[in-house]
Amino acid sequence: MRFQDRVVIITGGGSGLGRLLAHRFAAEGAAVIVADVIAERARAVAGEISDAGGASLPQITDVTSASDVRSMVAATREAFGPVEILINNAAKATDVDFLGMSEEVWDGDVDVTLKGAFLCSQAVLGDMVEAGSGVILNISSVNALAYYGNEAYSAAKAGLLSLTRSLAVRYGPSGVRVNAIAPGTLRTPAWEKRRARDPGIFEQVARWYPLGRIGEPEDVAGAALFLASEEAAWISGAVLPVDGGLTAGNLQMMQEIVKEPDDRPR
Ligand SMILES: NC(=O)c1ccc[n+]([C@@H]2O[C@H](COP(=O)([O-])OP(=O)(O)OC[C@H]3O[C@@H](n4cnc5c(N)ncnc54)[C@H](O)[C@@H]3O)[C@@H](O)[C@H]2O)c1
Repeated sequence: MRFQDRVVIITGGGSGLGRLLAHRFAAEGAAVIVADVIAERARAVAGEISDAGGASLPQITDVTSASDVRSMVAATREAFGPVEILINNAAKATDVDFLGMSEEVWDGDVDVTLKGAFLCSQAVLGDMVEAGSGVILNISSVNALAYYGNEAYSAAKAGLLSLTRSLAVRYGPSGVRVNAIAPGTLRTPAWEKRRARDPGIFEQVARWYPLGRIGEPEDVAGAALFLASEEAAWISGAVLPVDGGLTAGNLQMMQEIVKEPDDRPR
Protein backbone atom coordinates (compact mmCIF):
# COMPACT_ATOMS: atom_id res chain seq x y z
CA MET A 1 0.00 0.00 0.00
CA ARG A 2 1.48 3.29 -1.15
CA PHE A 3 0.32 5.40 1.79
CA GLN A 4 0.51 3.04 4.78
CA ASP A 5 0.26 5.18 7.97
CA ARG A 6 0.84 8.42 6.03
CA VAL A 7 -1.00 11.37 7.53
CA VAL A 8 -3.09 13.15 4.90
CA ILE A 9 -5.31 16.23 5.21
CA ILE A 10 -7.89 16.77 2.48
CA THR A 11 -9.69 20.11 2.61
CA GLY A 12 -13.20 20.13 1.19
CA GLY A 13 -13.09 16.38 1.86
CA GLY A 14 -16.81 16.11 2.50
CA SER A 15 -18.02 16.09 -1.11
CA GLY A 16 -17.17 15.36 -4.72
CA LEU A 17 -13.50 15.02 -5.56
CA GLY A 18 -12.34 15.53 -1.96
CA ARG A 19 -14.59 12.74 -0.72
CA LEU A 20 -13.32 10.34 -3.37
CA LEU A 21 -9.70 11.26 -2.59
CA ALA A 22 -10.33 10.65 1.11
CA HIS A 23 -11.60 7.16 0.32
CA ARG A 24 -8.77 6.38 -2.08
CA PHE A 25 -6.00 7.51 0.29
CA ALA A 26 -7.63 5.58 3.15
CA ALA A 27 -7.90 2.47 0.98
CA GLU A 28 -4.13 2.69 0.45
CA GLY A 29 -3.43 2.79 4.17
CA ALA A 30 -3.37 6.52 4.97
CA ALA A 31 -4.79 8.17 8.07
CA VAL A 32 -7.11 10.72 6.49
CA ILE A 33 -8.29 13.99 7.99
CA VAL A 34 -11.53 14.92 6.28
CA ALA A 35 -11.72 18.70 6.68
CA ASP A 36 -14.87 20.49 5.58
CA VAL A 37 -16.72 23.63 6.56
CA ILE A 38 -19.97 21.61 6.60
CA ALA A 39 -19.86 19.46 9.72
CA GLU A 40 -22.24 16.70 8.55
CA ARG A 41 -20.19 16.18 5.40
CA ALA A 42 -16.88 15.86 7.23
CA ARG A 43 -18.42 13.46 9.75
CA ALA A 44 -20.21 11.40 7.11
CA VAL A 45 -17.09 10.81 5.01
CA ALA A 46 -14.87 10.10 8.01
CA GLY A 47 -17.56 7.68 9.24
CA GLU A 48 -17.66 5.89 5.88
CA ILE A 49 -13.88 5.44 6.02
CA SER A 50 -13.95 4.14 9.61
CA ASP A 51 -16.81 1.76 8.75
CA ALA A 52 -14.66 0.37 5.95
CA GLY A 53 -11.85 -0.28 8.45
CA GLY A 54 -9.76 2.79 7.62
CA ALA A 55 -8.24 5.49 9.84
CA SER A 56 -9.95 8.86 9.66
CA LEU A 57 -10.72 12.00 11.62
CA PRO A 58 -13.38 14.56 10.71
CA GLN A 59 -12.48 18.22 11.15
CA ILE A 60 -14.95 21.06 10.95
CA THR A 61 -12.68 23.58 9.31
CA ASP A 62 -13.27 26.77 7.38
CA VAL A 63 -10.03 27.06 5.41
CA THR A 64 -10.35 30.86 5.35
CA SER A 65 -9.99 30.97 9.14
CA ALA A 66 -6.42 30.88 10.45
CA SER A 67 -7.61 29.67 13.86
CA ASP A 68 -9.71 26.85 12.33
CA VAL A 69 -6.71 25.79 10.28
CA ARG A 70 -4.40 25.86 13.32
CA SER A 71 -6.89 23.70 15.28
CA MET A 72 -7.17 21.25 12.38
CA VAL A 73 -3.40 20.80 12.21
CA ALA A 74 -3.11 20.50 16.01
CA ALA A 75 -5.90 17.88 16.15
CA THR A 76 -4.22 15.96 13.35
CA ARG A 77 -0.87 15.97 15.14
CA GLU A 78 -2.52 14.75 18.33
CA ALA A 79 -4.46 11.95 16.62
CA PHE A 80 -1.93 10.68 14.08
CA GLY A 81 1.26 12.80 14.16
CA PRO A 82 2.52 15.58 11.87
CA VAL A 83 0.86 16.12 8.49
CA GLU A 84 2.83 14.48 5.68
CA ILE A 85 0.50 15.14 2.74
CA LEU A 86 -1.80 18.16 2.31
CA ILE A 87 -4.39 18.28 -0.46
CA ASN A 88 -5.69 21.83 -0.93
CA ASN A 89 -9.01 20.92 -2.52
CA ALA A 90 -11.61 23.27 -0.98
CA ALA A 91 -12.76 25.97 -3.40
CA LYS A 92 -15.65 28.29 -4.08
CA ALA A 93 -17.06 29.46 -7.42
CA THR A 94 -20.05 31.79 -7.48
CA ASP A 95 -22.04 32.03 -10.70
CA VAL A 96 -22.56 35.77 -11.13
CA ASP A 97 -22.15 38.24 -13.96
CA PHE A 98 -18.83 40.12 -13.76
CA LEU A 99 -20.36 43.61 -13.84
CA GLY A 100 -22.74 42.68 -11.06
CA MET A 101 -20.12 40.96 -8.91
CA SER A 102 -19.97 42.41 -5.41
CA GLU A 103 -16.78 42.77 -3.41
CA GLU A 104 -18.16 40.12 -1.06
CA VAL A 105 -18.52 37.58 -3.87
CA TRP A 106 -15.02 38.33 -5.17
CA ASP A 107 -13.51 38.07 -1.69
CA GLY A 108 -15.48 34.91 -0.88
CA ASP A 109 -14.34 33.01 -3.97
CA VAL A 110 -10.73 34.18 -3.70
CA ASP A 111 -10.53 33.57 0.04
CA VAL A 112 -11.70 29.96 -0.04
CA THR A 113 -9.84 29.07 -3.24
CA LEU A 114 -6.51 30.84 -2.69
CA LYS A 115 -6.16 32.18 0.86
CA GLY A 116 -7.30 28.80 2.19
CA ALA A 117 -4.40 27.10 0.41
CA PHE A 118 -2.00 29.73 1.81
CA LEU A 119 -3.21 29.21 5.39
CA CYS A 120 -3.22 25.41 5.20
CA SER A 121 0.18 25.24 3.49
CA GLN A 122 1.72 27.63 5.99
CA ALA A 123 0.29 25.62 8.88
CA VAL A 124 1.82 22.31 7.77
CA LEU A 125 5.13 23.46 6.26
CA GLY A 126 6.93 23.85 9.60
CA ASP A 127 6.52 20.17 10.41
CA MET A 128 7.34 19.14 6.83
CA VAL A 129 10.56 21.16 6.85
CA GLU A 130 11.52 19.67 10.20
CA ALA A 131 10.84 16.16 8.88
CA GLY A 132 12.80 16.92 5.69
CA SER A 133 9.90 15.65 3.58
CA GLY A 134 6.28 16.36 2.69
CA VAL A 135 3.85 16.75 -0.17
CA ILE A 136 1.42 19.53 -0.97
CA LEU A 137 -0.99 18.99 -3.83
CA ASN A 138 -3.11 21.90 -4.99
CA ILE A 139 -6.32 21.17 -6.87
CA SER A 140 -6.47 23.99 -9.40
CA SER A 141 -8.63 24.00 -12.56
CA VAL A 142 -8.54 24.47 -16.31
CA ASN A 143 -9.95 27.89 -15.37
CA ALA A 144 -6.40 28.76 -14.27
CA LEU A 145 -5.10 28.08 -17.79
CA ALA A 146 -7.73 29.75 -19.98
CA TYR A 147 -10.98 31.62 -19.53
CA TYR A 148 -14.11 29.53 -19.01
CA GLY A 149 -16.15 31.92 -16.83
CA ASN A 150 -16.15 32.58 -13.04
CA GLU A 151 -13.63 35.43 -12.95
CA ALA A 152 -12.87 35.49 -9.23
CA TYR A 153 -12.58 31.71 -8.94
CA SER A 154 -10.40 31.60 -12.07
CA ALA A 155 -8.07 34.33 -10.84
CA ALA A 156 -7.72 32.47 -7.55
CA LYS A 157 -7.04 29.16 -9.32
CA ALA A 158 -4.34 30.88 -11.41
CA GLY A 159 -2.91 32.34 -8.20
CA LEU A 160 -2.82 28.82 -6.81
CA LEU A 161 -0.47 27.81 -9.64
CA SER A 162 1.86 30.66 -8.71
CA LEU A 163 1.74 29.56 -5.07
CA THR A 164 2.50 26.00 -6.22
CA ARG A 165 5.67 27.16 -7.96
CA SER A 166 6.73 29.48 -5.13
CA LEU A 167 6.46 26.80 -2.48
CA ALA A 168 8.00 24.11 -4.70
CA VAL A 169 11.09 26.26 -5.24
CA ARG A 170 11.34 27.64 -1.71
CA TYR A 171 10.82 24.34 0.13
CA GLY A 172 12.33 21.91 -2.38
CA PRO A 173 15.68 22.10 -0.56
CA SER A 174 13.82 20.91 2.56
CA GLY A 175 12.49 17.83 0.77
CA VAL A 176 8.96 19.16 0.25
CA ARG A 177 7.28 18.61 -3.13
CA VAL A 178 4.47 20.90 -4.27
CA ASN A 179 2.42 20.21 -7.39
CA ALA A 180 -0.93 21.14 -8.91
CA ILE A 181 -3.61 19.37 -10.90
CA ALA A 182 -5.84 21.35 -13.26
CA PRO A 183 -9.02 19.33 -13.80
CA GLY A 184 -11.64 19.97 -16.45
CA THR A 185 -15.36 19.49 -15.84
CA LEU A 186 -15.98 16.80 -13.20
CA ARG A 187 -19.26 15.11 -12.39
CA THR A 188 -19.56 16.29 -8.75
CA PRO A 189 -22.21 17.94 -6.56
CA ALA A 190 -20.62 21.31 -7.42
CA TRP A 191 -22.67 21.15 -10.63
CA GLU A 192 -26.01 20.44 -8.90
CA LYS A 193 -27.53 23.93 -9.31
CA ARG A 194 -26.52 24.21 -12.96
CA ARG A 195 -27.80 20.68 -13.59
CA ALA A 196 -31.12 21.50 -11.97
CA ARG A 197 -31.46 24.40 -14.46
CA ASP A 198 -30.34 22.26 -17.42
CA PRO A 199 -30.40 18.47 -16.89
CA GLY A 200 -28.54 17.91 -20.18
CA ILE A 201 -25.63 20.17 -19.26
CA PHE A 202 -23.01 17.40 -18.98
CA GLU A 203 -23.88 16.07 -22.45
CA GLN A 204 -23.62 19.62 -23.84
CA VAL A 205 -20.26 20.20 -22.18
CA ALA A 206 -18.91 16.79 -23.30
CA ARG A 207 -19.00 18.00 -26.95
CA TRP A 208 -16.06 20.30 -26.23
CA TYR A 209 -13.85 17.57 -24.81
CA PRO A 210 -11.55 15.75 -27.28
CA LEU A 211 -12.07 12.54 -25.30
CA GLY A 212 -15.81 12.97 -25.79
CA ARG A 213 -16.91 12.98 -22.16
CA ILE A 214 -16.62 14.98 -18.98
CA GLY A 215 -14.43 13.75 -16.14
CA GLU A 216 -15.29 11.64 -13.14
CA PRO A 217 -13.59 12.21 -9.77
CA GLU A 218 -11.85 8.84 -10.37
CA ASP A 219 -10.12 10.38 -13.40
CA VAL A 220 -8.41 12.89 -11.11
CA ALA A 221 -7.77 10.49 -8.24
CA GLY A 222 -5.26 8.42 -10.22
CA ALA A 223 -3.19 11.53 -10.96
CA ALA A 224 -3.51 12.86 -7.40
CA LEU A 225 -2.38 9.64 -5.76
CA PHE A 226 0.52 9.35 -8.19
CA LEU A 227 1.71 12.91 -7.51
CA ALA A 228 1.43 12.35 -3.75
CA SER A 229 3.37 9.06 -3.93
CA GLU A 230 7.06 8.17 -4.02
CA GLU A 231 6.65 7.34 -7.71
CA ALA A 232 6.63 11.11 -8.24
CA ALA A 233 9.70 11.67 -6.04
CA TRP A 234 11.37 13.97 -8.59
CA ILE A 235 8.27 15.89 -9.68
CA SER A 236 7.79 19.30 -8.08
CA GLY A 237 6.41 22.64 -9.24
CA ALA A 238 4.43 20.85 -11.97
CA VAL A 239 0.93 21.59 -13.21
CA LEU A 240 -0.83 18.55 -14.64
CA PRO A 241 -3.98 19.19 -16.65
CA VAL A 242 -6.42 16.29 -16.17
CA ASP A 243 -8.97 17.52 -18.63
CA GLY A 244 -9.79 14.99 -21.36
CA GLY A 245 -7.69 17.08 -23.77
CA LEU A 246 -9.76 20.27 -23.35
CA THR A 247 -6.86 22.70 -23.11
CA ALA A 248 -4.88 21.04 -25.93
CA GLY A 249 -6.93 22.72 -28.64
CA ASN A 250 -10.35 23.31 -30.12
CA LEU A 251 -11.21 21.20 -33.17
CA GLN A 252 -14.91 21.86 -32.63
CA MET A 253 -14.31 25.52 -33.47
CA MET A 254 -12.28 24.71 -36.60
CA GLN A 255 -14.91 22.26 -37.81
CA GLU A 256 -17.56 24.96 -37.52
CA ILE A 257 -15.34 27.43 -39.42
CA VAL A 258 -14.24 25.17 -42.28
CA LYS A 259 -17.46 23.11 -42.21
CA GLU A 260 -15.35 19.98 -41.87
CA PRO A 261 -17.60 17.08 -40.89
CA ASP A 262 -17.20 15.67 -37.40
CA ASP A 263 -16.09 12.10 -38.19
CA ARG A 264 -15.74 10.95 -34.60
CA PRO A 265 -17.47 7.60 -34.05
CA ARG A 266 -20.60 7.84 -31.89
N1 LIG B 1 -16.37 19.90 -10.42
C1 LIG B 1 -15.67 20.41 -11.41
O1 LIG B 1 -16.13 20.49 -12.56
C2 LIG B 1 -14.27 20.93 -11.15
C3 LIG B 1 -13.49 21.32 -12.26
C4 LIG B 1 -12.20 21.79 -12.03
C5 LIG B 1 -11.69 21.87 -10.75
N2 LIG B 1 -12.48 21.48 -9.70
C6 LIG B 1 -11.91 21.61 -8.37
O2 LIG B 1 -11.99 20.38 -7.68
C7 LIG B 1 -12.09 20.65 -6.28
C8 LIG B 1 -13.26 19.89 -5.71
O3 LIG B 1 -14.45 20.34 -6.32
P1 LIG B 1 -15.80 19.49 -6.28
O4 LIG B 1 -16.39 19.61 -7.62
O5 LIG B 1 -15.56 18.19 -5.67
O6 LIG B 1 -16.67 20.42 -5.29
P2 LIG B 1 -17.81 20.08 -4.22
O7 LIG B 1 -18.66 21.30 -4.15
O8 LIG B 1 -18.46 18.77 -4.51
O9 LIG B 1 -16.99 19.93 -2.86
C9 LIG B 1 -16.29 21.01 -2.31
C10 LIG B 1 -16.27 20.84 -0.79
O10 LIG B 1 -15.53 21.96 -0.25
C11 LIG B 1 -16.18 22.37 0.93
N3 LIG B 1 -15.84 23.76 1.25
C12 LIG B 1 -16.34 24.89 0.66
N4 LIG B 1 -15.85 25.97 1.28
C13 LIG B 1 -15.02 25.52 2.26
C14 LIG B 1 -14.24 26.18 3.24
N5 LIG B 1 -14.23 27.51 3.37
N6 LIG B 1 -13.49 25.42 4.09
C15 LIG B 1 -13.52 24.05 3.99
N7 LIG B 1 -14.26 23.39 3.10
C16 LIG B 1 -15.00 24.13 2.24
C17 LIG B 1 -17.67 22.20 0.63
O11 LIG B 1 -18.45 22.15 1.81
C18 LIG B 1 -17.66 20.90 -0.16
O12 LIG B 1 -17.88 19.78 0.70
C19 LIG B 1 -12.21 22.16 -6.14
O13 LIG B 1 -10.93 22.70 -5.89
C20 LIG B 1 -12.68 22.58 -7.50
O14 LIG B 1 -12.36 23.91 -7.81
C21 LIG B 1 -13.75 21.00 -9.86
